[in-house]
Amino acid sequence: MANDRVYLNGDYLPLAEAKISVLDRGFLFGDGIYEVIPAYKGRLFHLDDHLLRLEHSLAGIRLDNPYSRRQWQAIFAPLLSPGRDQYIYLQVTRGAAPKRDHAFPENTPPTVFVMCSDIVPFAGKVAGISAVTEADSRWRLCNLKTIALLANILHRQAALDQGGAEAILIKDGYVTEGAASNVFAVINGELLTPPKDHAILPGITRDVMVAIAQKHGIPCRESAISLSELKSAEEIWVTSSTREIIPVTELDGSPVGDGKPGLLYRQMDGLFQAYKQSFA
Ligand SMILES: Cc1ncc(COP(=O)(O)O)c(C=O)c1O
Repeated sequence: MANDRVYLNGDYLPLAEAKISVLDRGFLFGDGIYEVIPAYKGRLFHLDDHLLRLEHSLAGIRLDNPYSRRQWQAIFAPLLSPGRDQYIYLQVTRGAAPKRDHAFPENTPPTVFVMCSDIVPFAGKVAGISAVTEADSRWRLCNLKTIALLANILHRQAALDQGGAEAILIKDGYVTEGAASNVFAVINGELLTPPKDHAILPGITRDVMVAIAQKHGIPCRESAISLSELKSAEEIWVTSSTREIIPVTELDGSPVGDGKPGLLYRQMDGLFQAYKQSFA
């Protein structure tokens, strides 16, 4: 549930009063980018990494960053509650031009929207989730966090329709990522995750996991994962800012490993929780 107060183009106002034009290019074209930043007990987690990814996303769609890092931080601060685990959702679109035209508009300020919501613990965390593999139907700029998420939505819904909770996407026989998550697999005792390229979003949670594994001497490597390797993986997890690390205990109707969250998952989740506490 979003807090009642949100930020829109320089003002804080009640959510119900936050309105944008129907000519906004975010609405008409999905022409914009977004970012999701968790905050534990009011402290933003890996803020600089999220703001750096925001800069890359904006540059990738040729939109100027409307604010400095310090200004962004000042915008977020009044929306956060110190005692709560929450996440900031921010969105920047190419604004509302006088007419609908694919060409970039001139002299059109961007639309900037920010809201803050509670992080609701994800039910699938304890027992694990079912995932289904799907042929990745997305474009070649998946490294940018754009608001044009229709392909991701269709993949996620296809998974839900089959009783799963996440789709794991396959391109040319190899895992890219989840519909809204990055993928890790334990194969021959080694933790693998696909390398960062234009086929995946460079997940902040993913990078934190890799750093934690390296720090604790857990064998972990960036590597392409084929569909057949995924199908015989000892463990599979998906990671994201709002759900953290979620074990996949069933893939395409078959159990992953013994069908329960694995040992390495439990170790990494424990390390992640401890790291999070040290951050908050
Ligand atoms: C497509 C996709 N990949 C990966 C992620 C995970 O990124 P992060 O860990 O930064 O939330 C997300 C998050 O929503 C996502 O939508």
